[in-house]
Amino acid sequence: MSKKILKHVMPMAVLFLAAVCLPVFPADDTTPPAIRSGELWPDDAGVHINAHGGGILKYGDTFYWYGEHKADHTSSALVGVTCYSSKDLLHWHNSGIALSVTDEPGHDIERGCILERPKVIYNNVTKKFCMWFHLELKGMGYSAARYGVAVADRPEGPFKFLYSQRADAGTWPVEFGEKELSVVDTLNAENFKQEWTPAWLKAVDEGLVLKRDFPTGQMSRDMTLFVDDDGRAYHIFSSEENLTLHIAELTADYLHHTGRYTRVAPAGHNEAPAIFKHDGTYWMITSGCTGWEPNEARLFSSSSIWGPWEQHPNPCRGPLAEKTFGGQSTFILKAEDTIIFMADIWRPRHPSDARYIWLPIEFEDGMPVIRWRDEWSPSL
Ligand code: GAL
Repeated sequence: MSKKILKHVMPMAVLFLAAVCLPVFPADDTTPPAIRSGELWPDDAGVHINAHGGGILKYGDTFYWYGEHKADHTSSALVGVTCYSSKDLLHWHNSGIALSVTDEPGHDIERGCILERPKVIYNNVTKKFCMWFHLELKGMGYSAARYGVAVADRPEGPFKFLYSQRADAGTWPVEFGEKELSVVDTLNAENFKQEWTPAWLKAVDEGLVLKRDFPTGQMSRDMTLFVDDDGRAYHIFSSEENLTLHIAELTADYLHHTGRYTRVAPAGHNEAPAIFKHDGTYWMITSGCTGWEPNEARLFSSSSIWGPWEQHPNPCRGPLAEKTFGGQSTFILKAEDTIIFMADIWRPRHPSDARYIWLPIEFEDGMPVIRWRDEWSPSL
């Protein structure tokens, strides 16, 4: 081979050898440098995080992310509630099944039930981790409309299932005085068979569905938990056929309702509540009710958890802002300087492939704003 040809061939040969012989480092997809909403989010084993409709608890220097384990072809619970842990909110370790469904026939959380939107709060007094979730009994569609409660000594669990039930049977909301109760007295379901008419909406607002479920307990579906600065905790959930949100105060051990509750946006049809407090104001983001399909986020504020709650325009900005970027709210995390809006992009035909939206909430002119970002990192 002439020197001239060698001069051309050598570099190519070196490149070829390098490509063949050097160890191949795969694109490091297990260490995302940033949060990329809507993309696969691998844990430290390279597996897409499976913790949907979730919430986050910070305990010590660790964040725990609890969520629904979603199977590949059904939205029913085949596993239970998963727990992931992280120090920086970017890199997550699968810490296992926090609450497992059971194989006991007829059990409230029998495998195949619907177990959604789990949230965990820590009780400083009892030193227990308290989990609440939306529960639908196996084979009954969404008709049971219960909340479930479980408790653990450690953040990763195992959580012990305690009970499930509907909410606040035999109790009226705190704002129902003599006047409101005399209106409720006049409400007769026979007169409101046609739904979605102005008269029906007014009756729902006044307590038509509330009255129907008064004896047996109020429906409890999409939900979150909130611990206030004074240590009091609240369960916030879609009730009354998803037409009205309820905020129910929890007992000091965070394991029951006290019986004190208020209604938010009666007949407003809100789901997916997520809440945070900023400079003394309570802010709540919800969705409308279109099942797995995304819709426009709603924003509410109040100076008291007990209301009155005022509705504001959609806080989302950017592509698909009118559809919450293709997602549905699930939780809002306050972590040091960052407030994070968490939402789910559901994939009902392939539930385990559902994606996450995590975006910072910023304040502009005193109002929370959520701008789409292809990628970002929380400052902790
Ligand atoms: C959504 C709700 C989800 C799930 C779904 C079922 O509106 O937020 O948690 O219940 O409906 O269709």
